[in-house]
Formats: sequence, C-alpha cells, structure tokens
Amino acid sequence: MSYEKLSPIIQSRETLGLALALATTVSLIYLRRAANTSPVSHAPPSPVKDKKARKYGEWTPVEFTYPPITASQQPPAALNPIPYRPFRGGEYHVTMGIRSLPWNEWIELDNQFERYHRIREHRIRTRGSAVIRVQPDAPGLVKSGAEAAVELVHELAEYLSQRFPTTFEITRHAANTASSCPGWGGAPPVKSIRIIPLGCSYGLPLDINDGDNAAVKALEISALLVQEDLALMIEGTDGKYYFQAGAITIAGFWRIQDKIGLPLDEIHTSGDVPRYKDKLQASMERFFQRLAVDKPVVRNNYFFQVVKPTSPGGIEEIDPEELGWAESSNGPEDAFSHTHPEHQPTRPTPTPSTVRLRSERQTLRRLPHSGAILFTIRTHLTPIDKLAEEPGMARRLASALRGWGDDIGQYKGKTSGGWWDVVMNYLDKVADEEGAGGDITAMDNYPF
Ligand code: HEM
Repeated sequence: MSYEKLSPIIQSRETLGLALALATTVSLIYLRRAANTSPVSHAPPSPVKDKKARKYGEWTPVEFTYPPITASQQPPAALNPIPYRPFRGGEYHVTMGIRSLPWNEWIELDNQFERYHRIREHRIRTRGSAVIRVQPDAPGLVKSGAEAAVELVHELAEYLSQRFPTTFEITRHAANTASSCPGWGGAPPVKSIRIIPLGCSYGLPLDINDGDNAAVKALEISALLVQEDLALMIEGTDGKYYFQAGAITIAGFWRIQDKIGLPLDEIHTSGDVPRYKDKLQASMERFFQRLAVDKPVVRNNYFFQVVKPTSPGGIEEIDPEELGWAESSNGPEDAFSHTHPEHQPTRPTPTPSTVRLRSERQTLRRLPHSGAILFTIRTHLTPIDKLAEEPGMARRLASALRGWGDDIGQYKGKTSGGWWDVVMNYLDKVADEEGAGGDITAMDNYPF
C-alpha cells in the first residue's frame, strides 16, 4: 500500500509515525500477553498482521516473548523420523494446505540428525555459494536478507537449547552486550552453540558487521544445527515477498541459484507449479503479508525420485540416497535446467526398492526483529517397498496417484520420471494381496 493511500487519519509522516508507535506498543502488549496464555491457536488476531499499520517493506521490530518451550522427553538420537504420508485416496486438490503449528514442533530433529549433518556439511564445504546465498539490498525495492540470517541463527540457538537441552548447549555474552539479536527473555545474546553428541561448536555472529560474511556464516551454522533447508523471504516495497537469503543444501530438485532474489510468484511460475496462478497465488500473497509473529504454520507435500542401487565409493558413501541432489532423476546438478531436456539423465531401472517417496514438511513463521518470513523444508525419503509394508498404504497411495490430473502428473514426474508403471504395478499387487480395508480418503490423521 502506498503512503498516499493510507486513511486520512494517518496522512502525515508525523501521525504515521505515531500510528506505527501505537501499533508497536499494542503489539508488544499483546505479544507479551499471548506468551502467558500458551495455546497459540486461540490467541486473538494480532495487530502485527494489520497491514494498515505499516507500509510494505517496512517493519518495526517486536519483542516477542515465546510461549514456554517444553524440553523433549528424549534426545533426537532416540526419536524415529515422523512417518509423514501426506496424501489421501481420490482426486488431488491444489490448496495451500497450511495448518497451525505448535511452537514445540517448530524444529523437528530425529535419529537421522547426524547423517543429515554429515551430508549438509559436505555440501556446504564442496558447493559453497551453490547452496548458501545472501542477496544485497535492491535499493527502493527490497532489503538484503543479511539481518534476517543473523537473527535466524540466534533464534535457532535459543530454541534448540530449550527444546533439546541434552543435545545443544549455549554460552552467552556478558550482560549489556549490544546486539541486534538479544537473547530470549531479556538474556544476553547467545555467544556460541555446541552440538554435544557431535562434539562441534559454533561461534555466532553478533550482527551483520561481526566479521567477514557474517550473514553467510550465520546461515552455514543454521544449516548445521537442523535437518531442514532454510529460506528467508523479505517483503518488498511492492508488497511481494522476495527470496533474499537461504541455505538450500538438500532440495534435490531445485537450486538456490535459480530462485534467489525472485519474488514468491516467480519462484513458482518459473518452475511451472501447476495451477499456481488460479489456485495459489492470491491466497499465498495475502497470507504472507498478514502472517503474524505468533502464528507459525506447517504444510506437507510429496513426490517421487529414483536412486541408484547402493554401491560403495565416492560421493555415494556420503549420500547414497541422493538427498542433496536427485541426480538419477535430474542429471548433474551443475547442468540442471527446467528448460533443457537434453540434460535428462540416464536413469537407473526403477524398482520398488530404488524408488523413494520424497516428502517435505515445510514450516513458515515471521521473525520478530527483521520481520522476514522463514520457510523451512525438511525432506524425508522412504523406499516404496518399505512404505507398502504399512497396512492399507499401498491402496491409499495408488488411489492418490490415480487422482492426479495430467498437469499434476506432469509436474510430479508421472510421464517423465520413469517410475510410474513400476510403482503402480507394485502398489496394485500389494493392495490385492492385502485386500480392501480402511478408509483411503480419511483426513482425520492428516498428514500421516
Ligand atoms: C504457503 C506457502 C507456500 C505454498 C502453499 C507453496 C506451494 C508450492 C507448491 C504446491 C509447489 C509444487 C510442489 C508441491 O506440491 O509442494 C511448490 C514448489 C516450490 N516452492 Fe513453494 N509454496 C510455498 C512457499 C514457498 C516459499 C516461501 C518458497 C521459497 C523458496 C518456495 C519455493 C518453492 C520451490 C523452489 C518450488 C519448486 C519449484 C520448481 O519446481 O522449480 N515455496 N510450492
């Protein structure tokens, strides 16, 4: 919204300033109050989402007090990955599919943490700016993602040390240390974080000027603390959200270099996401502009990839599942192009044990200091033959796949992925042997 279009009550810069100050005060009161009443989903609408209170591209930091984070009963090493199965039988519907997210579940870690850490560390070391990027300011349009990147690593350090206290240990700076990222609850800023079982420690940058490439360093550390990829979206003066910084280390099917700096709509249209313009664009843009600091959300998706049968040697020892880059599906990462089919790979012959359900759990939340929206992407890979061992799963998945329209099928690799016939024949065979049972369209337990 342009300054001129604001209501007559706030048509001077002075009154606009007052209105912003008032909105911020109300935000602080509200957000502090929300923290004392724990259920996030029952809180009243936050003024943070009232876009009349600010101009596009501007953000007044809020002192958000988090609801208490409960320490996990078990360390990640004792937790199995959550078996997300985000599909149901019948017709496929394109929707945003977001649900509210309890703060205790913001970052999920499990017994794959060490493996993901190894793969991600290798990719950061060997691929550098091909997996981690921070955009500079685009004057007049959108700010750099640097501040948000530094804020992110402090948020993660605070959260993880509370949620998994036997896995993460933090140290803090002296009281009264100046920082753009104060500690939670008025504590001094975090100085370092140690991943106890892996024996590694990281010193956190205090702000964007703390050493060379502080923002890139902040993203590298962030990427090594969690199992998810991280994208920071900054609101531009045009109201669009731009991908201004990120650590995209294991996306498998897309590269940060092709999407960084783009607004949300171009990120999706450049990848030909089906029905984006008619089913998603408007609601997504509205959702991003209104997302409140205290209202994190989660969504899940799924698609398929083929991997090579396991063989020892080289990169395969680090990432035989092709978590980082789906080479058997997409060809070499450096030559990847949506628009150049000549780079299509020579695929290994798919079998039920080499086709993977590739499913993502994605979260979205707004960071209180920078106002950036953080998008996290956690990828789970499950072999089709393992999946089909779950009761009723073969029938449910086969029905879900038959519910794809042609456009969805094309996007998700039905026609080009080489796995469709193998997967369908296998699922039908297992389903026949198992016999009918269960409601394949039930959504009660979605996304499981
Ligand atoms: C409410 C938020 C969002 C929704 C509803 C959404 C929706 C989608 C959908 C439906 C797809 C197709 C694959 C699938 O079934 O998931 C997709 C792909 C994708 N999304 Fe999003 N998205 C959201 C946010 C974001 C954000 C913040 C980013 C920032 C990086 C992003 C980056 C991508 C990329 C890179 C792809 C792959 C595009 C390609 O194939 O080139 N999405 N998204």
